[in-house]
Amino acid sequence: MFHARSPAALLLAWIAAAVLAVPAWAQHANHQVDFSDTQKWSRVFDNPLRDEWQKPVQVIRALRLKPTSRVADIGSGTGYFAIRIARMVPQGRVFGVDTEPAMVKFLAERGKREGLANLTSIEGAPEDPKLPGAVDVMLMVDVYHHIGDRVGYLRAVRRYLEPRGRLAIIDHVDTPGSVLKDERTAPRRIKAELKRAGYELAAEHSFLPEQYFLIFKPAAR
Ligand SMILES: C[S@@+](CC[C@H](N)C(=O)[O-])C[C@H]1O[C@@H](n2cnc3c(N)ncnc32)[C@H](O)[C@@H]1O
Repeated sequence: MFHARSPAALLLAWIAAAVLAVPAWAQHANHQVDFSDTQKWSRVFDNPLRDEWQKPVQVIRALRLKPTSRVADIGSGTGYFAIRIARMVPQGRVFGVDTEPAMVKFLAERGKREGLANLTSIEGAPEDPKLPGAVDVMLMVDVYHHIGDRVGYLRAVRRYLEPRGRLAIIDHVDTPGSVLKDERTAPRRIKAELKRAGYELAAEHSFLPEQYFLIFKPAAR
């Protein structure tokens, strides 16, 4: 799963993948994953080798945030993106939303430890992120395939998006080399679902080797 470039990095990546990633990602296939062991998941999600293929700096740049932006990281997990984004929007606000209470606690403690007063950790419901207000950007990384009624969910979260807001979805591509071989993640299907839920495609980025990266905006009513 890791796209390392040098031979040493490749070896490290292979070991990390064998020890950590394979059992973890393999469970994703059935979408019924237990995320309560935060220490275990932190070793997977926050593994420094992830930066090689996840390219967080480029992803965050593509979100075109302002220092005052309000951002919701839906399915924030251990905070891989929420923490980085909170540093980028010092006068803004980041809401890390997760349905797993242990993850919510983990992120709240991590934000506090890292002195990020602009980061709020929220326990969302499977059908409602329970945000306290509207946001400029909503980000979903590797969470879309965990959601049951996706069109219903997307319709529901529209009320939390500012009129000029953006919804960014990153998930694994369905290719022979992919860690997640599942038709549910095929970009054409995601685009069709978003259209049905009342969004239109605003941008599509292709710089992530393992994942698609789509940005949507609310369609004119
Ligand atoms: C594979 S992890 C991804 C974590 C993080 N986005 C990252 O990239 O490191 C998926 C996370 O989404 C959460 N999740 C699943 N369904 C959710 C939903 N309907 N709303 C919010 N979070 C959800 C899980 O508890 C888990 O922490």
